[in-house]
Parts: sequence; C-alpha cells; structure tokens
Amino acid sequence: MPHVATERFLTELAAIVGPRGLLTDPTDIAPYAEDWRRLYRGHPPAVVRPATTQEVAEVVRACAAAGVGIVPQGGNTSMVGGAVPAEDGSEIVLALARLNRILEIDPVDMTLTLQAGVTLKAAQEAAAAKGCLLPLSIASEGTAQIGGVLATNAGGNNTIRYGNARDLVLGLEVVLPDGEVWEGLRRLRKDNTGYCLRQLFVGAEGTLGIITAAVLKLAPLPREVEVALCALPSAEAALDLFSRFQAQDPAALQAFEYMSGSGMDLVLAHIPGSALPLVTPADHYVLVELASPRVGAGLRPALEEVLGAALEEGVVLDAAIAASGAQRAAIWKLREEHSEAQKRAGASVKNDVSVPVSRVPALLHRAAEACEALLPGIRIVPFGHLGDGNIHFNLVQPEGMDPAAFLARDQDLMAAVGAVVRDLGGSFSAEHGVGRLKPAMLPGWRGGAELETMRRIKQALDPHGIMNPGKVLP
Ligand code: MLT
Ligand code: ZN
Repeated sequence: MPHVATERFLTELAAIVGPRGLLTDPTDIAPYAEDWRRLYRGHPPAVVRPATTQEVAEVVRACAAAGVGIVPQGGNTSMVGGAVPAEDGSEIVLALARLNRILEIDPVDMTLTLQAGVTLKAAQEAAAAKGCLLPLSIASEGTAQIGGVLATNAGGNNTIRYGNARDLVLGLEVVLPDGEVWEGLRRLRKDNTGYCLRQLFVGAEGTLGIITAAVLKLAPLPREVEVALCALPSAEAALDLFSRFQAQDPAALQAFEYMSGSGMDLVLAHIPGSALPLVTPADHYVLVELASPRVGAGLRPALEEVLGAALEEGVVLDAAIAASGAQRAAIWKLREEHSEAQKRAGASVKNDVSVPVSRVPALLHRAAEACEALLPGIRIVPFGHLGDGNIHFNLVQPEGMDPAAFLARDQDLMAAVGAVVRDLGGSFSAEHGVGRLKPAMLPGWRGGAELETMRRIKQALDPHGIMNPGKVLP
C-alpha cells in the first residue's frame, strides 16, 4: 500500500479544502488517530475535513491518483476500530463533520434528508421538531454521525420495532473510490430497478465508498410512552417476560433490554447520580419500553397487566414503572451507561454477539461457564438487546489484575464465547461490525462463497484498495 504523503500531496489537499479543512499539526490530529476504546492509535499525516460532497470527491480523486489510503470518519465511536488509520502513516483520515446540514424533512413522505456529518442526536431532534421520530437510538448518539451510523448499519435499542439502520435507508449519496459521485438520494418506497446499491454501502464500513448524504424513513412521534425496570430471578424469566409482552401486543414494544446484576453493580458504583429504583437488587434486570403514537393507547394498564401476572407467578421479582419523563430517563441511564461503567472498572473484552432470541438464556449460561473456566475471577457483565437476540457478552478484568495481562487473553476469551455462539447458530458480530478488530474471524464464520463474493465486490468497486484499508476483509 501507498507511500507516505508528501508535502506536495498535502498542498494539493489544502488547495481543495482550504486551510480550515486540513489538519496536519499532531495535537489537532490526535483525537482522530485513536479509537474510543483506545485499542488502536494510528499516525495519519493529515486529517481532511471537506465541507461539501464535491470537496469529498476531489479529495478522493487526489488520493486515488497518489495511491493514498482514506479512512472515512464520523463521530469516531466505533467499538471495533473501524475508523482508525494505519500506524505507518500511509492513510489520511477524511472526517465528515463539516457536512452537517439537515437538507429536508417531509412529514407527508415521512422522510429526513441529511448530510453524513449530522450527529444522530441532532437528526433525532430535527425530526422531533417536525412531529416525527427518527427511530434509531444508540448509546453513542450524541457523538455518532449519520454517515458512520449507516456505514456500520448500527442497531441499538429500537431494532426490535423499526429494524437496523439499513431498514431506514431509502436513498444515499456516495462518493465512489474513483471520486465519482453516485447521486441516489431517492425517497421511493418502491423501486425495483436492479441491484440495490444503497444496501451495498450500508454495513460496508467505508470499504466501498464514502456516504455523504442520505434519505431516511421517519415514523410518527410516540405520544404515549411507558418504561419499566424489572428485577428477575433468571435469564429464562427474562425470555419468558419478553414472550408475554410479544403475545400481548408486539406493535407496542419499543425496547426490551437485558442487564445482568453484575453490570448494574458497575453502573451503580462508577456512574455518579445513578440509583436503583427497586428495593432489592437482583441477578437479572430487564428494561421494557412501550410506545404508541396514539394518545389514550392504554399502555399503562397494558404494562401493569403483564407485569402483574408475571409478579404473581414469580417471573418478575420486583418492578418500577417510571412516573415521569425524568424517571424514564433515569432508568434508561442505568442501561446506557453500561459501557462507560465497564470502561471505568478496568480493561474489558467485548463480544457483540447474536443468537436466535430463544437461545439467549443458553448463551448466557454456557458462555459464562466457559469464561470462568478460562480465567477465574473474571467479571462477566452481559447486557444488551434481548429482544433482538443481541447480547454484549462483555468481560471485565478480575479485580487487581494487570490490564495488559488481561487483554493478552482476549483471543482465548473471544474464542470461548465464539464457540458457544457458533453452536447456538449465532453471529460473531451483531451490530458493531468487523472493523479492524475482527477481519481475521471472517474466513472462519463467513468463508467460502460468501467471503469470495465480498472480495469480488471489493475488487470491482475499489480495485486499488484505497477505501478504509485493513477493515472488514482479511
Ligand atoms: C450498547 O448497546 O450500549 C453498546 O452497543 C455496547 C457495548 O458493547 O459496549
Ligand atoms: Zn448495543
């Protein structure tokens, strides 16, 4: 791969994006060079911050001509090092933050057209101001940008009802690896006109092109919302409770999130202002959210009906129903701060896995057993989107252990969890993607015709391998 960028090349980039658009000072570059988890630190000679799609295209053309690798970067919140540049200085970062305009909201078509650098939170707020819901919610939404959210096909808390990011995409604008712009910002609900190109770029993690704008589907804004936190005796009880809500009204179920007692303890210990709204702590918790666009939908009695029966039958040990917006936010905070609390508790190994929903209890039992056998004292803190079968089977170092020594065991631990997941018919990456952390796992899990087809697509679109090199494909 490419030579280190020369002075001449950097001058060429500066001429495209202007002085505001090019960072070369090491202090300015530092935040773009390292990932959120601090797993990787690259050495890009420059960070380019174009302000228009045309500038993105010109930067890509210049990089293609010089054979310089490009790492597209949004909010830099990847869990798998998907947006970090190489250590050898051979790749620049192309940050999309300045493409931050909401272009149009259409409440009849129920669409939001926006640029890639808008944060997910700003996009949600813009939709809400027009009485609409952008139905995608992830813990990093204040920082994560639409381009990255789409490039990684983010999932999050509302997949159970609205699907993953890819289910919300009607149109895209993409700068291709040769600098050509594909203008596909269509907003059609039906459009059977050959290969579905937009879905090729969603989930490709920037390895096939750079998403610069999108048209997203909106939903009606919920007017009634109920949130409850439940304490449960077992993982089986959590699944049982899920089935009860599904049986009652799947259309009202907006989120069904699992947390282990161990994970909750870390949140309570490390996150200031967090408090458990239940009398007795438990080994298992569930956050359930019901929502409806209809005023008078009767969600409170519906929630109480399911929880009442579950309490009576011992499926739920205790439950707190939020009585205000502030209480709903406080319950959600207990869930959303799981990653941060784990980070503060020491080194951690993340396993973002999925299995069929019915097998989540088996996953929780068997993976815990396997990890404890490998490393006694390891803190097992699974949590996540039970309603989608997506569990973050995260592992925190034993108390007092050297963090580096713990991280040196990451391959063993991931392999142990992976073996259980494979046996249960699951996936090694449910929603975080492959990035730089997991390409080596791809042949074992998606080998044969599947990987070969991915390689051919990459070769066809990016024959010189300049788009986010070293990510996704081994
Ligand atoms: C979350 O759902 O909070 C993130 O995807 C989690 C993580 O693995 O830390
Ligand atoms: Zn998640």
